[in-house]
Amino acid sequence: MSIEKGREITISVLKFNPRSKVSKPHFVDYKLEETPGMTLFIALMKIREEYDPDLSFDFVCRAGICGSCGMVINGKPALACRTLIANYPTGVLQLMPMPAFELIKDLSVNTGKWMDSMSKRVESWIVDNGEENDITKLEERIDPDVADATFELDRCIECGICVASCGTKLMRPDFVGAVGLNRVARFEVDPHDKRTAEDFYELIGDDDGIFGCMSLLACEDHCPKHLPLQNKIAYLRRKLVALK
Ligand code: SF4
Ligand code: FES
Repeated sequence: MSIEKGREITISVLKFNPRSKVSKPHFVDYKLEETPGMTLFIALMKIREEYDPDLSFDFVCRAGICGSCGMVINGKPALACRTLIANYPTGVLQLMPMPAFELIKDLSVNTGKWMDSMSKRVESWIVDNGEENDITKLEERIDPDVADATFELDRCIECGICVASCGTKLMRPDFVGAVGLNRVARFEVDPHDKRTAEDFYELIGDDDGIFGCMSLLACEDHCPKHLPLQNKIAYLRRKLVALK
């Protein structure tokens, strides 16, 4: 019985090591055979195992959960582990690291460092009114609809794809991005957080926050978790502009 061969695909990768004095940005093409159900993650693992052990890229979960594998695929930021090669009819995929983040090497960028500073900037934690918690009391009940709305916004995996897609972020290096504004929206809806609209205005009421977004929509178009980013940004903007 003859085994049918898969089509030949080309994965073209921008390679660069910013810490090396001799490294210059350049594309390297890898040709390999497509296998059934092949994701970009599988293709990159094959390249690293069989052709180029020096190729750098990030992965943890392989299931669209950890947010590590964002990269620019044929011009659009996406998760490599959720990218099916079969969806690319030409069989040619050009890969670049996501912009807006510190480049570590090749396709690997430091999203964690950026997320950490954004989290501090938007004070991404529950702020209560300082009262001591009485652990002998029953937990406060929350309306299921409010809990659902909070969990919905908590689905963000901090992949950075909305930031890499964002025209405003490229113009304003300190813009908190859709991920940062989504974080504020998450705490604004959570009744455990006692901050007022004025408090949130202090955090994001400027052009690096809610008033910087130009509504280009690429964040929502590319978010792998399909979060309602533009809705939430519009809601926050309407609420905070009324305070002016
Ligand atoms: S909002 Fe969406 S695109 Fe942005 S970091 Fe979260 S999951 Fe990724
Ligand atoms: S490897 Fe975790 S999201 Fe892709």
